[in-house]
Amino acid sequence: MSETSDIDFGPLKGLIGVWRGEEGVDIAPDPDGKETNPFFEEITFSVVGGVTNAESQNLAAIHYHQIVTRKSDGKVFHNETGYWMWDAEANTVMHSLTIPRGVCLLAGGTYNGEVDRDGRVIIEVSATMDDEKWKIIQSPFMLEKARTTEFRHKVIVGDGRLTYAETMMVDIYGKIFEHTDQNELTLV
Ligand code: HEM
Repeated sequence: MSETSDIDFGPLKGLIGVWRGEEGVDIAPDPDGKETNPFFEEITFSVVGGVTNAESQNLAAIHYHQIVTRKSDGKVFHNETGYWMWDAEANTVMHSLTIPRGVCLLAGGTYNGEVDRDGRVIIEVSATMDDEKWKIIQSPFMLEKARTTEFRHKVIVGDGRLTYAETMMVDIYGKIFEHTDQNELTLV
């Protein structure tokens, strides 16, 4: 780990801080079809610092913790943590996450200066079950009963706003379900 002041966080820089969003929408699998859950959430992104691998790869790392509450009953129904990492030399963003269902993954993507019309940074990462590089790992139970085969996550951040949309393809109840979550958050 190294001092944080001289670290290049690249496209991840704008994430650092505490964010809240009130208008989240979750579409989740249900034995009878699907359930739609409006939610609010808080995500805290905190600086970890610089990390060196094999004395040659330099990463800038940010830790995050996401706590999501269902509006209908006021209960936390999703708790997720992991890291966002930036490899400036390879123009690569990495996103690791773990959820307490026995599922974790390492998603990756390249970043080459993509911004939207307002100049906000657009970050996209993905992982699949079978990819050699960016991969999903899950428990034997989940592999058999609720297998996540694909993960895609798009984040747009800038001007104190963070918008995200993520899709998880889940093989559950005898079909492939498109489990999605989206929200827009503001910097607290
Ligand atoms: C804001 C983010 C998320 C929310 C609010 C959310 C919410 C939910 C809900 C409500 C269910 C239905 C089962 C239940 O009621 O407990 C579910 C199922 C599931 N979620 Fe998520 N989820 C989120 C993100 C993720 C992510 C990132 C993954 C994996 C990469 C994931 C994987 C799964 C899987 C595999 C299931 C099937 C398990 C089951 O329905 O019994 N979810 N999620």
